Amino acid sequence: MPPITTRLSGSGLAFGGDYNPEQWPEEVWADDMALMREAGVTMVSVGVFSWALLEPAPGVYDFGWLDRLLALLHEHGIAVDLGTPTTVPPAWFYQRHPEALPVTKDGQRLAFGGRGAICHSSPAYREAATAVTTRLAERYADHPALAMWHVHNEYGAPVSECYCDISAEDFRRWLRERHQTLDALNEAWGTTFWGQRYSDWAQIQPPRRTPTAGNPGQQLDFKRFTSDAMLANFTAERDILHRLSVGVPVTTNFMTALSQCRSVDYWAWGREVDVVSNDHYLVAEAERTHVNLAMSADITRSVAGGAPWLLLEHSTGAVNWQPRNIAKRPGEMARNSLSHVARGSDGAMFFQWRASRFGAEKFHSTMLPHAGTDSRIWREVVRLGADLGRLAEIQGSRVRPDVAVLWDWHSWWAEDMEWRPTEDHSADERADAWYEALYDRHLTVDFAHPEAELAAYPLVVVPSLYLMTEAASANLRRYVEQGGVLVVSYFSGIVDATDTVHPGAHPGALRDVLGLTVEEFLPLRAGRQVALSGDAAMTGGGLLSGDVWTETVVPRGADTVWRYADGPAAGGPAVTRHALGAGHAWYVSTRLAPADLDRVLALASQDTRLDDREDLPRDVEIVHREGEQGSYLFAINHTAAETKVPLPVPGTELLTGERTVGRLCVPVGGVRVVRLDREPGDEPRG
Ligand code: GLA
Repeated sequence: MPPITTRLSGSGLAFGGDYNPEQWPEEVWADDMALMREAGVTMVSVGVFSWALLEPAPGVYDFGWLDRLLALLHEHGIAVDLGTPTTVPPAWFYQRHPEALPVTKDGQRLAFGGRGAICHSSPAYREAATAVTTRLAERYADHPALAMWHVHNEYGAPVSECYCDISAEDFRRWLRERHQTLDALNEAWGTTFWGQRYSDWAQIQPPRRTPTAGNPGQQLDFKRFTSDAMLANFTAERDILHRLSVGVPVTTNFMTALSQCRSVDYWAWGREVDVVSNDHYLVAEAERTHVNLAMSADITRSVAGGAPWLLLEHSTGAVNWQPRNIAKRPGEMARNSLSHVARGSDGAMFFQWRASRFGAEKFHSTMLPHAGTDSRIWREVVRLGADLGRLAEIQGSRVRPDVAVLWDWHSWWAEDMEWRPTEDHSADERADAWYEALYDRHLTVDFAHPEAELAAYPLVVVPSLYLMTEAASANLRRYVEQGGVLVVSYFSGIVDATDTVHPGAHPGALRDVLGLTVEEFLPLRAGRQVALSGDAAMTGGGLLSGDVWTETVVPRGADTVWRYADGPAAGGPAVTRHALGAGHAWYVSTRLAPADLDRVLALASQDTRLDDREDLPRDVEIVHREGEQGSYLFAINHTAAETKVPLPVPGTELLTGERTVGRLCVPVGGVRVVRLDREPGDEPRG
């Protein structure tokens, strides 16, 4: 499959956004074309919410406006990412099929009038969605403006799960495929506990609201089923598009930020799309929004297997759906866009082109704001378009990672269920914290599935991986024995794929590799802290501080590096290091304060072949992309001070065209991209 941007314009990064011109009289479209040309727009996403216009009555199609629109875009050299409109079926569809509206865990059927109200197990929905997709594909399969198909919109939002009777039937079908026999299902779900044994498939329901904690195996399987049910609808549309529109890549916009979507197993989905694309919105009230952005971009690249991907939506300024919609400040949009590009996106696209005058999103920022072209946002949009043009040669290059973080949506689903040792622990919070610690050490992170090949990474971090298969356990053991350095945080390796505790002492899947057992979990009272004292020679002395979690760790081969100085585990090991084969496995049994996480990482890094990059200021982001055309260093300055970044070799700065030697000056809030004077692949990893 050629890179999409090659299909667009020969080469270059994609720039544009969602374009919903059906909200405007057609005479406005000519203005849009002129302004898109001025801004350097190369591609727009069209038709994502247009089902009601394209099929105004069942089986009656009106493609006239879309024909005219695509012709106009093509005439102006703007490529089209054409949406299948299946995220909002028309009102007439629900009038005929009210059963296709999703039902909540509490049994409430959601109503038409928003968007994405879909029961993904509904045969009526599937039939209508594939029919409209077929008609679209037949009509536009070979359209010269068509660069990519955009199926649906953000599977997983705003609802994923449906608990209706149709879903129940589909869930039972899925369970039969997974477990084959009722005995196997009873065993996997541990139904002898609380007398939940099933004697007939028909007795099994989705995990609807129960009087007390529901069966964990049932809940976990329902999450898997839900991701698969949505995926089946995606692949049904994708297969139609592949058959009728040969060679045109198919995507669907992911939301990989952990705060944005929980219900999609992106490891599985990443394998099914031709191009991985992502939507990212800042949690705008957070202090360091750029860290979460970087994390989402790194997850996206990782689910793309390291290949370039495409940022299909982000915002020029404020969104309109957060409690307080904090606007981006001058330069922030460009920094955001170029951070995504630095981390592997072959472009920067936005929601949306022109501000809507009506509907739920009229206060969302856009490329062309209500204020018009005499506005800061418009000027910055035009400038960004030009900057992306200057970075055209970067297209197709790949990011050079330093370390890996293990992540698994199935484990997250299991870990964050009710009735765990403490409600203060959550897997995504730990993932965020460890990611931030690595970010602050200026390390570029790949996320990896626990069963993925890890040998290339000098350091692998496990922020929290409660559910771990035998295969993952063997994988980590092999990684360490062969010389890897593994850092594992608490409550990892506890259960297998059915949420059943591994036999013997915790952490069953990691005892051998960590060289220890955990005798008892000792979570802390809300707000309480514990102190950790370190072996002075090894740690340099001083106390560390933890909260939320402690436990009774029993070394069985591991050395104690820090001990609990107080709290319920006082005197016992808190942070350990185990030499195994040619590598080392570290264990952290409490939730360390951020600065203390960094101390542990600093020490563990001494066991690795990682460069020490501590001389770079905090919040100056350095990422490398390497491709056939060259080796590129991105420097993004999120601070309020000018900074100087040491260059390994001289190079040419692509945004200014200047030669740079020695130290690269990056202005306040600015971005610099240097093509280094070296053959691609010259630089050693890590
Ligand atoms: C999502 C959707 C868009 C729009 C934006 C607003 O990403 O895909 O249609 O609603 O959010 O932030």
